Amino acid sequence: MMLLIPGDPLRPRRPDEHFAPEASAAREAGLTVAVVDHDALARSDGADRAVAAVPAGDTAVYRGWMLRSEQYGGFVDALARRGVTLRTTVGNYQRAHEFPGWYPALTAVTPRSAWTTGTDRTDFDRARRALDAGPAVLRDHVKSMKHHWDEAAFIPDLGDADAAWKVANRFRQLREDDFVGGFVLREFEDFTSAEVRTWWVAGRCALVGPHPDTPHDRPPQRLDLDWLTPLVGALNLPFVTVDLALRADGAWRVVEVGDGQVSDRPNSVAPSALIAALVGEPG
Ligand SMILES: Nc1ncnc2c1ncn2[C@@H]1O[C@H](COP(=O)(O)OP(=O)(O)OP(=O)(O)O)[C@@H](O)[C@H]1O
Ligand SMILES: [Mg+2]
Repeated sequence: MMLLIPGDPLRPRRPDEHFAPEASAAREAGLTVAVVDHDALARSDGADRAVAAVPAGDTAVYRGWMLRSEQYGGFVDALARRGVTLRTTVGNYQRAHEFPGWYPALTAVTPRSAWTTGTDRTDFDRARRALDAGPAVLRDHVKSMKHHWDEAAFIPDLGDADAAWKVANRFRQLREDDFVGGFVLREFEDFTSAEVRTWWVAGRCALVGPHPDTPHDRPPQRLDLDWLTPLVGALNLPFVTVDLALRADGAWRVVEVGDGQVSDRPNSVAPSALIAALVGEPG
C-alpha cells in the first residue's frame, strides 16, 4: 500500500506541513509515500498533472484535504491511468463524504434528518415540514457552519418558516463556493459530551480518539461499540470516520460520518497510530 499526501504549495515535492507527520510515520512503517498537487486536483483539468509524481502500479490510500466528490473521481481516474488503484472508489468516497450517502444506514442512531437537492425554498420547506417542529441544526451535504452557530447553524424552531429560511440563506452565503449538494436539516438533540472520533478500516474500528475540535478530551476508557459495528459494516466502506456524542439520556449518538482519507486527525492522535490502523488490514 502507498500513501498519497498533498504537496507543500510552495515546495511541491515535499509533503504539506499539515500531513508531514503522517508521511514520516508511513515511511517508517515501510510504505511508499508520494505527493499530489491539491490545487491541481481541485481544478477540472488538473488531475493528470496533480498525480505526475506518483509511481505506477500499487494500491493507494490518500490522506489530505477534502475534495468534492467529482474532484475525487478525477483523482481516481488519473491514478488509474498510471496503474494506481485508490482503495476507496469514487462511489465509496461519496457515500461517506456526503450526508445522503451514509444517513440511511445510520437512521436508528443519528438525529432525524431531511435534506434538499439544490437550494430552492420550496424544497427547503418540504424538508422542514418532514421533521417535527422545534429546534434543528442546519448543514449542507458535507459541512456545517458551526462557527457561526446562531446565524447559520442553529434553527430555534422549524415551525417558523421565515426564520429557518433566513438561517439557510446566511449559511449559503457563508459557504460560498464550498456549498455541496443541498441543505440538511437535523432535529436538535441534547449532546452532553465532547465528540469522539472513531476510525474504521474495512468495517472494523481500528482507532478511537478525540474529535479535532476537542483534542484533549480523551474518549472514555471502555467505549462499547458493539451496537455500531454492524451498522458501519453495512455501509461496506474501506476507510471512514464516525463521530459520536453522548446524549443527555445516556445514549451514544452518531453526529456524522466522514471519509477517513479527508477526516482531520487531532495532534493528540499519534500519526503512527493512524498509519498502523490503516495497514492493519490487507490492501
Ligand atoms: N442534531 C444535532 N443536535 C445537536 N447538535 C448538533 C446536531 N448536529 C450537529 N450538531 C452540532 O454541530 C456540530 C457540527 O455538526 P457536524 O459535525 O454535522 O458538522 P461539520 O461542520 O461537518 O463538523 P466537522 O468539523 O466534524 O467536520 C457538531 O459537532 C455538534 O456539536
Ligand atoms: Mg462534525
